[in-house]
Amino acid sequence: MAEVARVQSALLEWYARQARDLPWRRTRDPYAILVAEVMLQQTQVDRVIPKWHAWLQRFPSLADLAQATRADAIRAWQGLGYNLRAVRLHAIACQAVAEYGGELPRTVPELMALKGIGRYTAGAVACFAYEQPVAMVDTNVRRVLSRVFEVEPSDVEKLADQVVPPAAGYAWNQALMDLGATLCRAKRPLCLVCPLLAECGGPRPSARTKPAAGAFQGSRRFLRGRILDALRHHERIALVDFGEPEIVERMAAEGLVEISFDGYARLAL
Ligand code: ADE
Repeated sequence: MAEVARVQSALLEWYARQARDLPWRRTRDPYAILVAEVMLQQTQVDRVIPKWHAWLQRFPSLADLAQATRADAIRAWQGLGYNLRAVRLHAIACQAVAEYGGELPRTVPELMALKGIGRYTAGAVACFAYEQPVAMVDTNVRRVLSRVFEVEPSDVEKLADQVVPPAAGYAWNQALMDLGATLCRAKRPLCLVCPLLAECGGPRPSARTKPAAGAFQGSRRFLRGRILDALRHHERIALVDFGEPEIVERMAAEGLVEISFDGYARLAL
């Protein structure tokens, strides 16, 4: 099994350099974070961003949402789909006002006592608003952790709490989400530029994985395809972040890729 401390430091270092600048990462308001996480459960980041701003403008606090009618909430949810989420949010606001003076509680068990908040959402609010080192497992996090630590996806919950770094839970959880969304994708993961390449037990096109039948996976041509794929998605990538930098150098010699003096590769202009 991958060594936890090394995975932690490699992922946190990557996040410090590569974190996506997402608006809900600029607040610690528990309500704003709750709204973001509920929206993000079934909707892509790009579509959530404008809706999240609009929702908070319309209902700036739990009290404002609780004062509105359920119908107001459903109307304001328009365009996001899975509209029961609006009903759930409204109910949470009403309960928080009635029982918690308009605030959201701080701990996972207390948050889960609110109707409509499950373990994932409770973890997200406890961690992203109150900076507690607790895990939260969504589809992306499940995939990343099961690959890195070679556990069955169904066993990830047990592991997830044990691998949160106590002093950096916030960055760790956001980093897992970024890694799952950008590199550790379900299909065609970009293992070659992954910060966890050296630690991960998951699928990867390299000598550590048995080549698939036909041996295309693991072949030089396959790796070159993946490198170009990575550079199509990232304007520039540090050479040190490639698992096999010598292949990138070869591609630079051929004119596919450019390597700058400060050690970054990009698609040739
Ligand atoms: N998906 C769910 N929660 C997220 C978050 N906080 N940042 C990015 N993507 C997410």
